Amino acid sequence: MKKKFYITTPLYYVNARPHIGHSYTNIASDCIARYKRLKGYQVFFLTGTDEHGQKVAQAAGAQNLSPKDFTDRIVPGFIKVWKDLSISYDDFIRTTEKRHHDAVAEVLNILFKKKDIYLGKYEGFYCTPCETFWTDAQVVKGNLCPDCQRPVDKISEENYFFKMSKYQSWLIKHIKSHSDFILPLSRRNEILSFLENPLSDLCVSRPKQRLSWGIPLPFSQGHITYVWFDALINYISAAGFFFDKKRFKNLWPADMHIIGKDILRHHAVYWPIMLHALELALPKTIFAHGWWKLDNVKMSKSRGNIVDPEVVISAYGRDVFRYFLLREVPFGLDGTYSEKALVGRLNSDLANDLGNLLNRTLTMVEKYFQGVAPKPDNGDSFDKALTQQAKELPQKYSQAMERLQFGLALDAIWSVINAANKYIEDSKPWELSKQKNTTKLRAVVYNLLGVLRTVAILVYPFIPASSLKIFKQLGLGIEPDRETFKSLLSAKAFPSGTKINKGQPLFPRIV
Ligand code: ME8
Repeated sequence: MKKKFYITTPLYYVNARPHIGHSYTNIASDCIARYKRLKGYQVFFLTGTDEHGQKVAQAAGAQNLSPKDFTDRIVPGFIKVWKDLSISYDDFIRTTEKRHHDAVAEVLNILFKKKDIYLGKYEGFYCTPCETFWTDAQVVKGNLCPDCQRPVDKISEENYFFKMSKYQSWLIKHIKSHSDFILPLSRRNEILSFLENPLSDLCVSRPKQRLSWGIPLPFSQGHITYVWFDALINYISAAGFFFDKKRFKNLWPADMHIIGKDILRHHAVYWPIMLHALELALPKTIFAHGWWKLDNVKMSKSRGNIVDPEVVISAYGRDVFRYFLLREVPFGLDGTYSEKALVGRLNSDLANDLGNLLNRTLTMVEKYFQGVAPKPDNGDSFDKALTQQAKELPQKYSQAMERLQFGLALDAIWSVINAANKYIEDSKPWELSKQKNTTKLRAVVYNLLGVLRTVAILVYPFIPASSLKIFKQLGLGIEPDRETFKSLLSAKAFPSGTKINKGQPLFPRIV
């Protein structure tokens, strides 16, 4: 039986259309999901939308729509972007679905019965853009949110609270004894230092007269569940917590939650405590990546300083966008988005290096071998340097991918691509042809085809559509999968006699 790998993205608020930041999280998660499938895992990849709460209710009100009508209009836009970006999710959950509603009610009932949820009075502040409660001591001078620096509202309400404080020392111990639980390390340290101060109990409701858009508490219909408490539960509700116990047993715990660093505390403090109180296992890894910024300010829907992924896709293509985001910035750090940098990557890495290698190699197969992959004699030592480098590549690549070091994985691939381009310059096939040195010419072209096959498999998680195009042009009518990946490790050769299909250049240069 295949080993499962359950990976999730955040559920995005539907107060506006998705931007590059959301695309980044989903592209990175998709890259991991595709890599794990190549490695033979049974992947369950979950994404979706967070539809309740004040922020969404306000956005609906601004358009004179009911929240449900509003969200029904926005959600297809998310689904379309994910399709346009080749996001290969297995499930899409909306927090307005019954399967989710039932799971939230079940969780609340369990915790209320356990007396981990109690009635109290909330006196403090609320930041609507962050959907976060803040205490007097936490807000910044001038009543600003400590996270986003925008004005907070003062509130005084009777509300229900979740006893987080009871579990603080357990959580600290768990984080300290599980080195992969919060990644990267800097984020783990951030949470541990946050936990040095006493943890307040979490307010998990809003009175219905103030906010009616959400899931009512099953034990108090006058209260609506706090949007974060509601949304986090999606990770178990989609896995079948309420509606399919068998599916849940197979899928839970999640192997990886991919999130942005803005929502680290919700995932690395609230969520593990909720799960522990429910006596459920914890996710294995929570990875918080950095922010894409424009002019040094975080891109965000509510600030409006965004770049629309659909515009980038239609100008440059989905794979160029995917490649740029995963290559440009080490996963975990912040980056500044620039169209100029994207075009630079397209022209140099994709068009010049990879595109040219494919084009030159296939041109030689056509010119010297009537479009059929040649059968080599034994290569000489000159060829060995390249073939050895290509042989070692899958392992180097896997090491980087296991650590989510996308940039390093791509560096490893590109060093083989560059070596292959240099191999063409050094071996001068045009002269070999003139000299009628067909033994050597066969070996050179054959080795290049082998490198391209390896590259096509390994770039698949990053640029899936282009990977498939390379496969097609190489005449290999298969999709990269577990078997092709395994065959790289056993260095199975490129099938001689294959009829190639040279097509259009993969990545036309932008001038
Ligand atoms: O927080 N750079 O939803 P959200 C990189 N509904 N990533 C960014 C980004 C940027 N500039 N802006 C957004 C919520 N993101 C909650 C989540 S989960 C149970 C509930 C990405 O629509 C990043 O993944 O505000 C960030 O964590 C997420 O979008 C926030 O999306």
